Amino acid sequence: MPTHDLVVVANRLPVDAKTLPDGATEWVTSPGGLVTAMESVMRGVDSGAWVGWAGSPGEAPEPFEADGMHLYPVALDGTDIEKYYEGFSNATLWPLYHDVIVDPVYHRTWWDTYVSANRRFAHEAAAVTAPGGTIWVHDYQLQLVPEMIRSERPDVRIGFFNHIPFPPVELFSQLPKRNQVLRGLLGADLVGFQRESDSLNFLNAVRQLLGSHIDQRTVTVPGIGAVEPREVTAQTFPISIDTEAVAELTDDQDIHERAAQLRRELGSPKKIVLGVDRLDYTKGIRHRLKAWGELLNDGVIDPRETVLVQVATPSRERVDAYRQLRDEVELTVGRINGDHAPIGRPAISYLHRSFDRKDMTALYMAADVVLVTALRDGMNLVAKEYVVSRPDVQGVLVLSEFAGAADELRAALLVNPHDIDELKSATLRALTMPAEEQHEAMTSLRRQVLDHDVQSWARAFLEELQNAGSPAAPV
Ligand code: ADP
Ligand code: G6P
Repeated sequence: MPTHDLVVVANRLPVDAKTLPDGATEWVTSPGGLVTAMESVMRGVDSGAWVGWAGSPGEAPEPFEADGMHLYPVALDGTDIEKYYEGFSNATLWPLYHDVIVDPVYHRTWWDTYVSANRRFAHEAAAVTAPGGTIWVHDYQLQLVPEMIRSERPDVRIGFFNHIPFPPVELFSQLPKRNQVLRGLLGADLVGFQRESDSLNFLNAVRQLLGSHIDQRTVTVPGIGAVEPREVTAQTFPISIDTEAVAELTDDQDIHERAAQLRRELGSPKKIVLGVDRLDYTKGIRHRLKAWGELLNDGVIDPRETVLVQVATPSRERVDAYRQLRDEVELTVGRINGDHAPIGRPAISYLHRSFDRKDMTALYMAADVVLVTALRDGMNLVAKEYVVSRPDVQGVLVLSEFAGAADELRAALLVNPHDIDELKSATLRALTMPAEEQHEAMTSLRRQVLDHDVQSWARAFLEELQNAGSPAAPV
């Protein structure tokens, strides 16, 4: 098997295998911010490899190449999907790490499958990494992988980046097997987080639950028997987007025309307000719709002049909380449209599907206001994509203070999405903001994102990884 100097391991590959009605396989971009960010990083790496799941149950496809990346599919069968992916990852860890917005579900039988699936990813990564190479593990689905790789390959550098929040120790302590999870993460040389509060929460959990010695950012992991003590660093690296790729799209005349066409198709409203989210309860879509419905009921928004476009990508559709959310959102949208839509036009244009980058950029270019109302979010790349898609330096970003992006995008209209009155007044303020004020805020937002793109994020992480931890075992 060929080996690689840099290997990324994530639950998903950057592409999902979709079986067409004629039995042929089509590869489509996988959902979510992790893939958006890491795909552009890995395209720029010579002979980089990516280990992950191809999105369907059953046997893994053979390794293959796409866009210069070497992809190594890992198999997940029906039980793995139920217990590792939908169960422990998305019904236990996801809600617990997002402030228990819905109740985490704890099932003892899910843990064993989480362990065995993590071992499969670790083993595949260990097999394709060059002597003395680097393995970069991503996200909450794979928290045991760093330690598992270390026991197979003590010669490699191991980094871990958590794309979602790390909860305060008071919440993290609920997690059955919490100490095993911390020990899994401490197999890395460097553990990276989105926000400073996440890094501090992690260090606190390690201190309180494992009783480890910590000096500022560095945890000492005691040695056992012949194994020497090691050092692990925890640091903050706010993730970003590929600003150059977005700029190329906004320079494209066809996409300008598409943005204008979208406005016409929506009935040429004066204002377009946009929400773009995976259909996830962390995104605050219910709160947003509640505020929007009330603004229409109050008569302060005229649905003939202002339309809300809500793009809601299908997500984790077999997990109960996601099914319920979809039902509620679709009921609410139907009710609001029934009460308020002008004949032949929606009050809310609801789109439950994926779009390509060109269409997404056209939507951002057409939107006068973007609402990011997450109740908790690791970063939220939509917020960053919107500001970089506005070289005309117009448009208003309403941004939840509970999204990681709020630490950097201070010039946005920051809101507490739990406060529906505040959400309503921020939306109205955004809709009536004078052009000069929009220009001033957007200038500052754009500068922040353009100066901190995803390539500089990856460079910072990988440079720190070379210096972090203890010297690796000799090859
Ligand atoms: P998360 O990772 O939780 O899904 P982010 O906001 O960080 O949230 O990232 C979402 C990514 O998915 C963004 O790059 C966004 O453009 C993309 N995206 C969201 N909805 C769609 C959609 N319907 N079609 C295509 N891409 C989408
Ligand atoms: C978020 C997570 C990713 C995940 C993505 C899509 O971005 O941080 O790890 O891949 O959502 O979710 P899914 O369950 O479809 O992979």
